[in-house]
Amino acid sequence: LSIQHGDSGPAPRELPPAVGLLLSMALMNVLLYLCLDRLVTAPRSPTAHPGRCPPGHFSMGQAATCSPWLSCEQLRAEVRPLKRVGEGAVKTVFLSEWKERKVALSRLTRPEVRDDFLHGLRMLQALQSEHVVTLVGYCEDDDTILTEYHPLGSLGNLEATLNLAKYRSLNTWQHRLQLALGYVAILDFLHRSPLGTLVMCDSSDLPKTLSQYLLTANFSIVLNDLDALPLVNRSSGALVKCGHRELRGDFVAPEQLWPFGEDVPFQDDLMPAYDEKSDIWKIPDVSSFLLGHVEGSDMVRFHLFDIHKACKSQVPAERPTAQAVLDTYQKVLNLLRDTATSQTREML
Ligand SMILES: Nc1ncnc2c1ncn2[C@@H]1O[C@H](COP(=O)(O)OP(=O)(O)OP(=O)(O)O)[C@@H](O)[C@H]1O
Ligand SMILES: *[C@@H]1O[C@H](CO)[C@@H](O)[C@H](O)[C@H]1NC(C)=O
Ligand SMILES: *[C@@H]1O[C@H](CO)[C@@H](O)[C@H](O)[C@H]1NC(C)=O
Repeated sequence: LSIQHGDSGPAPRELPPAVGLLLSMALMNVLLYLCLDRLVTAPRSPTAHPGRCPPGHFSMGQAATCSPWLSCEQLRAEVRPLKRVGEGAVKTVFLSEWKERKVALSRLTRPEVRDDFLHGLRMLQALQSEHVVTLVGYCEDDDTILTEYHPLGSLGNLEATLNLAKYRSLNTWQHRLQLALGYVAILDFLHRSPLGTLVMCDSSDLPKTLSQYLLTANFSIVLNDLDALPLVNRSSGALVKCGHRELRGDFVAPEQLWPFGEDVPFQDDLMPAYDEKSDIWKIPDVSSFLLGHVEGSDMVRFHLFDIHKACKSQVPAERPTAQAVLDTYQKVLNLLRDTATSQTREML
């Protein structure tokens, strides 16, 4: 805002008080407008680590340097378990301390599931990225894995976390849609991973699915449990099955259900295999949980209606790819942000 004075003629010494008041009000408006514009449209910085560490190395939190994954010796000598924070079928997880930093130490629960544990470790090693929890070290001899600790815990705690006074300001449709974007971005990453097309199998119901992801302090999502990520190979025609037991319910994709009726008992070797489109079927349910019930979330649901309908196609091949869903989510986020910004402008 600049006030042009003519070069000729003396500038007035004093403005009449009313003009001064008007000018300062105009200035305030412009400032407010600029601030709101920033608030509403500033892109949330994705937790991108610009130059991620080379293979076999990690960096945690704000640290700029990369260190090699901890060895068995370091793990045994330097890591102190403090308290148990989680337990699943495969791992018991302890909040632990390493060099005055918080880490998560996972121990194998029982030898029968060691193959899953090791598969999870291989995947963790191979898939380190902004979408996956940071591996800090491991010791196969002791069946232990060390990862970055995320105090907000599993995505299943989202509602409880957003109810804490500290995080209540994040309980908006913008932040919640951003989480849904992060979730679909992880599926997109798995479906086009460096190892090939991986299916997120540990997802037989909503709570189970949510428990595989962690909420970071930055309010982004990382995949934590990589124990069940079988590979689809299109060129060899190899499809997958999520486990060897019968799956039931509406949450899993129709092709994951036993197709031969109640009268024929389930038999694993008769169960047809399927592909990564079973993950796409589940997107609307997970996203709906992430969007929750805050002001604006129904408006977001309305804009996602068509893409979610396509995700629920009975025929897997007719469902969109994770990439296509992600593109649509991004468009909806941009559109609604622009609308919110211009509405705020009109109010001024
Ligand atoms: N790095 C971490 N930071 C904070 N909490 C964690 C971390 N890792 C695991 N947890 C907690 O521990 C729980 C169990 O961990 P995890 O899912 O790895 O175990 P699991 O035995 O593989 O589970 P499942 O039965 O699904 O296979 C998680 O749901 C989460 O609540
Ligand atoms: C959170 O984001 C900041 C910068 O945006 C980054 O420095 C920090 O490492 C991130 N923390 C986590 C836990 O991802
Ligand atoms: C897929 O199968 C083909 C043929 O068996 C094989 O050559 C290729 O390496 C496999 N791809 C992946 C990603 O495993």
